[in-house]
Amino acid sequence: MTVRDAAMTGNAMLRDAMQAIAEDIDAAFDILLTVPDDPRRRLFEAMRHAAMGGGKRLRPLLVRATGKLFSLDREQMIRVGLAVECIHVYSLVHDDLPAMDDDDLRHGKPTVHLAFDEATAILAGDGLHDLAFEILADERTHPDPFVRCELLRLMARASGPHGMAGGQMMDIAAETAAFDLSTVTRLQQLKTGAIIGFCVEAAAVMGRLPPEGRTGLHGYARDIGLAFQIADDLLDVEGDAGLAGKALGKDAAAGKQTFVSLLGVEQARRQARMLVDQAKAHLRGYDARADLLRAIADYVIERDR
Ligand code: IPE
Ligand code: IPE
Ligand code: MG
Ligand code: MG
Ligand code: MG
Repeated sequence: MTVRDAAMTGNAMLRDAMQAIAEDIDAAFDILLTVPDDPRRRLFEAMRHAAMGGGKRLRPLLVRATGKLFSLDREQMIRVGLAVECIHVYSLVHDDLPAMDDDDLRHGKPTVHLAFDEATAILAGDGLHDLAFEILADERTHPDPFVRCELLRLMARASGPHGMAGGQMMDIAAETAAFDLSTVTRLQQLKTGAIIGFCVEAAAVMGRLPPEGRTGLHGYARDIGLAFQIADDLLDVEGDAGLAGKALGKDAAAGKQTFVSLLGVEQARRQARMLVDQAKAHLRGYDARADLLRAIADYVIERDR
């Protein structure tokens, strides 16, 4: 999170929360990824290159913002945020590989396979993926083993073939198949929405909110997840690559079906705005403790990176 990111929100609470979570997550990665003095050094250096500095840390922020509803322990929320960021960063390292999007730039730096090499990038992604589960399984994340087991199950579901990995497969297919809007919606829900949904759900699990009480939060997560991916697709079409810190214009070049290719820029933007309003409507039962979640909903489509 840069100062510019925070400043553009115009919302002091969001700005402070973004800055705080960015510092917490960077500090946690610094410890998690301490470079060993042995031949694994290169792997740790590659994981540090990928994980530290540059990301918006939106997912850890969502864990913390939802955790505010249940007055969750700060340290525990950081650990869950760190785990989800491990999964997110791993997904980006693999997404950028030549076999996938073949990208040169991420967070304004050379992608891991260029800064290191392809084998190291694959292993760095694998390593981050596995660290996520190790963090969740640790009793410092939550003292109750049933809660930890549920967090592990939810994370596996959100990142695997029924979540992000499945969505990435559909995303590759979207380069050649003629998907309709409902298929693209499902693709986005899996590719991006599932991990975003995990952030909100994990906090609800730690807050011991019974499943029947989670409907509003589920609706919120689904809507901002979709709005977030529409914003990513809009940035790909009309964003500033310097600000985004990654190459843009890639979706159209690959002939990929996205919300923007199906709806056009104007309608996609309207759809994203509608989803954000709907997301906030799902929070109507919550008091001011949900204001950070409301501010995040606006941010996901107002962002410029
Ligand atoms: C980018 O995610 C990839 C998608 C899932 C669309 P973010 O925009 O959250 O990535 P960083 O970590 O903040 O760069
Ligand atoms: C990547 O989506 C999403 C995941 C890594 C799960 P994109 O390919 O659209 O992300 P960017 O645009 O490279 O950040
Ligand atoms: Mg991709
Ligand atoms: Mg990509
Ligand atoms: Mg994209």
